[in-house]
Amino acid sequence: MDLDTRYPSLADLAARARARLPRFVWEYLEAGTGAEEARARTRAAFERVTVLPSILHGDITPDLSVQLLGSTLPLPFGMAPVGMAGLVWPDAERHLARAARKLDLPYTLSTVASQTPEAVGPLAGDHAWFQMYPPRDPEIRADMLRRARKSGFRVLVLTADVPVASRRERQLRSGLTQPPRLTPRLLAQIAARPAWALAMARTGMPRMRLIDDYAPDTKGLPSTAHAGYLLRTSPDAAYLHWLRDHWDGPLIVKGVLDMRDVPRLENAGVDALWISNHGGRQFDAAPAPLSVLPRIRDATRLPLILDGGITGGLDILRAIALGADFVMLGRAWHHALAALGTRGPYHLAEILRRDLEANMGQMGLSRVRDVRDRLAPHPTG
Ligand code: LAC
Repeated sequence: MDLDTRYPSLADLAARARARLPRFVWEYLEAGTGAEEARARTRAAFERVTVLPSILHGDITPDLSVQLLGSTLPLPFGMAPVGMAGLVWPDAERHLARAARKLDLPYTLSTVASQTPEAVGPLAGDHAWFQMYPPRDPEIRADMLRRARKSGFRVLVLTADVPVASRRERQLRSGLTQPPRLTPRLLAQIAARPAWALAMARTGMPRMRLIDDYAPDTKGLPSTAHAGYLLRTSPDAAYLHWLRDHWDGPLIVKGVLDMRDVPRLENAGVDALWISNHGGRQFDAAPAPLSVLPRIRDATRLPLILDGGITGGLDILRAIALGADFVMLGRAWHHALAALGTRGPYHLAEILRRDLEANMGQMGLSRVRDVRDRLAPHPTG
């Protein structure tokens, strides 16, 4: 099968994933909060960013590599954390970690993944990042950090934009509870998707294995609870300082949208800021990450990572033009995996790589970062 003709874009992979996943799984992955206005806004912000093409540059060999946190990365994008990825496709975390290693991309394992750090870290290569939902108990915190470090994770990401659980109406409507309970309704949805059902039958329904190690009784959670809620707290500044003191590698705070937070994050010794609205899953009035990026860029010299709404290589260039150093995609890798199995992530990386090259050619750019000088005036001012 020719992947390029059948799935030339991220939207093609998403459509194929949707056709292969039970409804509740698709709804879990796709759900935003509320009326999903933040999701729509996050995407729409890209369409408004125009970048000037440039002529008469002769032949160009685009170099897609970027510098981030002391590493040279071959491509300006990586894999964002997704909770319970194993529900989307069996063993998603390990498949993605292996692909990240081969492609030399950062892979971020979620605290609420369906695999432990020990099972994933050794597969992920040099750029294994661990995303932390903050456990309340300091001993559990310290143990998680120790396990992550021992398993090869070098970068710690504190997700700060989930101070409380959000309502995800679309997920509730689909009948999915946390943890998943196989009601007749869910079973009917599964029966309609044999590829997923067969693959899942081989591995068994996923659990949150890291969380289960500390709180074996995750069954009692109400259906609206955020994954991992038995353990976690809402982080504050003291928490961030504690983390800084207990993690000797790079520390990133994810969920930054307000430039006024920059000074205290800098003071806490954070190494990079991750601008994100959690894929539109937490707060429906949140701005698009792209729309707040320029102000945050002006406020700090720290590396800026951005996620949300990226549909191709051109969007990556738009984010870098506005001040990002690196971008992350979350859902897209899982669409690719659900659509094409283990080949999916490689195909997705190839789509993004070629789209970056094609658009850099139009701009006469040989280095990704130089797109910063090519921003066209905003059409609507
Ligand atoms: C979510 C959690 C797991 O957004 O971060 O579903």
